Amino acid sequence: MSDTTPKHLGEITDRNLALELVRVTEAAAISAAQWIGRGRKNDADGAAVEAMRRAFDHVAIDGTVVIGEGEMDEAPMLYIGEKVGYGGPAMDIAVDPLEGTTLTAKGGPNALAVVALAERGNFLHAPDIYMDKIAVGAGLPDGVVDLDAPPGENLRNLARARKCDVTDLIVCILDRERHAEKIAKCREAGARIMLISDGDVAGVIATAIPDGGVDIYLGSGGAPEGVLAAAALRCIGGQLQGRLIYEDDAQVARARDMGLADPHRKFGLTEMAKGDVMFAATGVTSGAMLRGVRRRGPTAVTHSMVMRSKSGTVRYIEAHHNFRTKTWTAA
Ligand code: FBP
Repeated sequence: MSDTTPKHLGEITDRNLALELVRVTEAAAISAAQWIGRGRKNDADGAAVEAMRRAFDHVAIDGTVVIGEGEMDEAPMLYIGEKVGYGGPAMDIAVDPLEGTTLTAKGGPNALAVVALAERGNFLHAPDIYMDKIAVGAGLPDGVVDLDAPPGENLRNLARARKCDVTDLIVCILDRERHAEKIAKCREAGARIMLISDGDVAGVIATAIPDGGVDIYLGSGGAPEGVLAAAALRCIGGQLQGRLIYEDDAQVARARDMGLADPHRKFGLTEMAKGDVMFAATGVTSGAMLRGVRRRGPTAVTHSMVMRSKSGTVRYIEAHHNFRTKTWTAA
């Protein structure tokens, strides 16, 4: 009698899981999209969180949120420590149901619904504080840029590795007063700059995808967004370093409580997201990476990317949704 059991049952389950993840980001994006340009970022965020939470009920994992909407007492759903999924392999989950709440409220580009997943213990447990970040795409020598080096030196090293001139490089930086000096230093070195109003997960990923239009990401943004961006770069390749920025001793103590033995050190890509990692994102509003949700009456079209570090495959998925037949997502 022949054995019909698939040899790689675990792998097949994992592959299905990647598609399950996209359903989760699609649901969040569709719900958030109802709030595009309506000036109400908290409503947009709330809609994304609720839809993502509901979608997780259909995913076959024993998931624990490690990067989420905040602590249990401040976030009613998808809080750090919350269990998600209806049972299956033990997984850690990093979520940002709406990355770019203000972008969505203003109808700006690059708002995303984002999820990453790894086996238990593989994501950095980062508190919701700022993280200083530097990122470049794949195919460059290890350590070509360094968080502790001045911007000019990083740009010159990157240009040398790319065999181009510093003036050919485009630096992506969040448009914030705190970055004034970095921006001035990059301009002094001769690089061009793309200032973004929000959305540094997309900013980091843009360094690593063809046509992203960005050579290097610099500056501080949310630490949770740093871990999500690390998960993405683990899948598509690239380098990312981050260091947490503390405003007071209580934040340092919080980081230690979350398991960081040396909370002041620089973290590399695999220290933020290690092992086999999956990442999914759906566009809420359109950007260089993904098209935003297009809603027409009882239908919507979504555009997502899903990828996995183990295989390195990046899939772009266009889904056509019909709310007359779909029960669990936003109508
Ligand atoms: P939200 O979606 O939570 O509004 O975050 C948007 C964002 O731009 C992130 O991409 C970035 O990491 C962070 O805010 C930067 O924080 P700040 O706006 O305080 O500079």
